Amino acid sequence: METLDKTYWEERYKSDDVAWDTGSITPPIKQYIDQLTDKNARILVPGAGNGHEFAYLAENGFENATVLDIAETPLKNIAARLPHLTAERLINADFFEHYGTYNLIIEQTFFCALPPALRQNYVTKMHSLLAPGGKLAGLLFDFELTEQGPPFGGSREEYVNLFAPLFKINMLHRAYNSIKRREGKELFFIFEKK
Ligand SMILES: C[S@@+](CC[C@H](N)C(=O)[O-])C[C@H]1O[C@@H](n2cnc3c(N)ncnc32)[C@H](O)[C@@H]1O
Repeated sequence: METLDKTYWEERYKSDDVAWDTGSITPPIKQYIDQLTDKNARILVPGAGNGHEFAYLAENGFENATVLDIAETPLKNIAARLPHLTAERLINADFFEHYGTYNLIIEQTFFCALPPALRQNYVTKMHSLLAPGGKLAGLLFDFELTEQGPPFGGSREEYVNLFAPLFKINMLHRAYNSIKRREGKELFFIFEKK
């Protein structure tokens, strides 16, 4: 397997090899954000790439939403699209080396991009980044995990086993409003920090 490091991701953006990029916020996450009422919530979108979910938050008055990615190119794209943003809302860092406290973290094709060996680290890191009662919400793929990836798949059962020790599984079901090419292949979830 290739090393999925900063150089790998930077190259993917520089060569415009970004098949995962949906071009706009996906309907399941838009619907979730649309029912949020606390515009002051501290929100993190990690592994955000070109940040369509983050842009939607920023454009809808979530002043404490922050975006993080290991690659610099997509963050520059976001800064160009949203020139009013202050620099501290765009974090160029490795998620596993980032520290902060958030009320909500949004997952959109970040988990599936990581080498599967890092899954347990992802769970504990997410837990440590959330304030008491904080939530991790978004989409996880629902197709077989193989050696090939990214994206790397997974199943509802695997996700319950991974997350349930540290999170309450408030919701984990087949998304009914996926974009066409992901129909039947993703689970919408809300996990709450225990
Ligand atoms: C498959 S892309 C998804 C991007 C975005 N979420 C989307 O849906 O368009 C995975 C993203 O995670 C980023 N990434 C991978 N490993 C990372 C890490 N350790 N820390 C932060 N970002 C990382 C990559 O640079 C890339 O932008």
